[in-house]
Amino acid sequence: LNYLTPKSRQEVLDLLVTGLKRLEYRGYDSTGVAIDSPDNKNIVMVKRTGKVKVLEDAIQEHFSGGEYSEPVLTHIGIAHTRWATHGVPCERNSHPQRSDDTNGFVVVHNGIITNYNDVKTFLAKRGYEFESDTDTEVFAKLVHHLWKTHPTYSFRELVEQAIQQLEGAFAVAVKSKYFPGECVASRRSSPLLVGIKTKTRLATDHIPILYGKDDKKQSSEQVIPRSDSTSEFMPMEEKEVEYFFASDASAVIEHTNRVIYLEDDDVAAVRDGTLSIHRLKKSLDDPHAREITTLKMEIQQIMKGNYDYFMQKEIFEQPESVVNTMRGRVRFDGNSIVLGGIKDYIPEIKRCRRLMLIGCGTSYHSAVATRQLLEELTELPVIVELASDFLDRNTPIFRDDVCFFISQSGETADTLMALRYCKQRGALIVGITNTVGSSICRESHCGVHINAGPEIGVASTKAYTSQFISLVMFALVMSEDRLSLQQRRLEIMQALSKLADQIRAVLKLDSKVKELARDLYQHKSLLIMGRGYNFATCLEGALKVKELTYMHSEGIMAGELKHGPLALVDDSMPVLMIVLRDPVYVKCMNALQQVTSRKGCPIIICEEGDEETKAFSSRHLEIPRTVDCLQGILTVIPMQLLSYHIAVLRGCDVDCPRNLAKSVTVE
Ligand code: G6P
Repeated sequence: LNYLTPKSRQEVLDLLVTGLKRLEYRGYDSTGVAIDSPDNKNIVMVKRTGKVKVLEDAIQEHFSGGEYSEPVLTHIGIAHTRWATHGVPCERNSHPQRSDDTNGFVVVHNGIITNYNDVKTFLAKRGYEFESDTDTEVFAKLVHHLWKTHPTYSFRELVEQAIQQLEGAFAVAVKSKYFPGECVASRRSSPLLVGIKTKTRLATDHIPILYGKDDKKQSSEQVIPRSDSTSEFMPMEEKEVEYFFASDASAVIEHTNRVIYLEDDDVAAVRDGTLSIHRLKKSLDDPHAREITTLKMEIQQIMKGNYDYFMQKEIFEQPESVVNTMRGRVRFDGNSIVLGGIKDYIPEIKRCRRLMLIGCGTSYHSAVATRQLLEELTELPVIVELASDFLDRNTPIFRDDVCFFISQSGETADTLMALRYCKQRGALIVGITNTVGSSICRESHCGVHINAGPEIGVASTKAYTSQFISLVMFALVMSEDRLSLQQRRLEIMQALSKLADQIRAVLKLDSKVKELARDLYQHKSLLIMGRGYNFATCLEGALKVKELTYMHSEGIMAGELKHGPLALVDDSMPVLMIVLRDPVYVKCMNALQQVTSRKGCPIIICEEGDEETKAFSSRHLEIPRTVDCLQGILTVIPMQLLSYHIAVLRGCDVDCPRNLAKSVTVE
């Protein structure tokens, strides 16, 4: 910040805390802030576990009155809310993370640095001692190491060199006591924007990009330029601008609606009130400048993006969330998969008596969805259980059982009780959760974080597809050395590499699904039928319809049709059938004919261009072809969209359905 009007450090802290509050909707487990000490020689950090309010109270305590209330002209502060990916939520693991105990470099980070272990080993050999379990700490220490070994580097160059060494996803902002008045930020795969607040309207709508390694001469020049510069981008007086780096516009919108969205590997630096954007390499199609965009949205809208509800946003995030689940784990080039959280236990798992998959609600359905593949690729008995029923039955468990506990929140009481029950009986406990540091994480022997990002809508969507993929990855790991399964593994790996694009294609059906919702929303009931790999989609689709729309819905195993459910079918009962070209296609066609011959007129989900199947109904949704065991990911998305649109048409509260909670922590 270079203040429009002088501000005190307390005001800076207020501003940072308000920014964090605007990000609360994303879900978080801990918070932290770093500012300069009054003499500008040191960096002071405050970190807390829990809500922003807890941090706010701690700040009040630390910085009230005195030197912190005196106005200053330039100040840089950084702050963060954390949703744990590596290391449990606690003060030690909160951000900012630091390079050393003098707070030489401090960093806030969103994303996952996938090669952090390698970087950690490299730095540990050079004497660095790590104090947190985070991937972020390696970043702060790496910048420090580069600073020691390259004393002539500018702050911006240090960060630029550091990001060259990192793999994975990040948006970082770094501050240093060695470079007062400077802040450097960069991104790869995680969002980052620069907000610009000026007294008068900017004369430019572009910030030119500086390229190349040696930009010493131009290093701090322009680019939101000074008044004495001859640059054509000359909009304002130095010291009349405030800059904000943020991962989300909601954190800055109350200060400015003028923002630059940074691109991957951009390094943006603010020095003495001047912003520059730098890239190491220039590729042919790179533009010369980054555009300053004027946001026209309100805060509430920005938090939800262009979406009306969080659930809708989460449905549309799935092309990215499935990639995040695979990030750093699946190597498509080498056809290999590493699940760091369980790799040391794989030999033990391979020797087990059986695999038990246990969960509730949507998490249970992810187990149903992947059971067949697990049986095929592990050649072990795979037992799928609802946690509540499993406990009711006092199910026998053996020391050589491997029990998976699947839970988005990691806190569901039934699932947690079942975990403790199995642990007491000596089984190996594997947690599959979206919440690092949750009870299930802490009480498991090993596990996989699904990394879907915070899910806010009560009805689970992106967590389901990420749980699904996590279990598929586990099946692939288990079959790595089975020669006879290599062809099958290859086929699945190839399909995984195409999945994000195929999900995007399915999401384009949205308007068609909305039309279907208009036909259906006044009905009392909806039957959803399928079998094989798509039975789980029927269960999950029916659950989504029930919880969101309060309409009755039932997921029916098509093989069971003639044993009862067929009696429900007549010309007025809405039926949806999933009929794909897989090993159960012929059997599904039989079921389809049974329905049509009872005057039922099913809506069909089929493969693109499958004219023969389509002919059985005037209403159909076509989805791209993928390998049989991943179809469930593509077929569940139309069901998520359908339940969403029906709920909207029926005037239901999409994000908070009546009587339900996101995390059920009572039995
Ligand atoms: C609640 C939620 C469901 C969720 C289930 C299991 O019932 O409303 O959406 O599937 O809990 O939650 P978990 O966090 O264990 O996956």
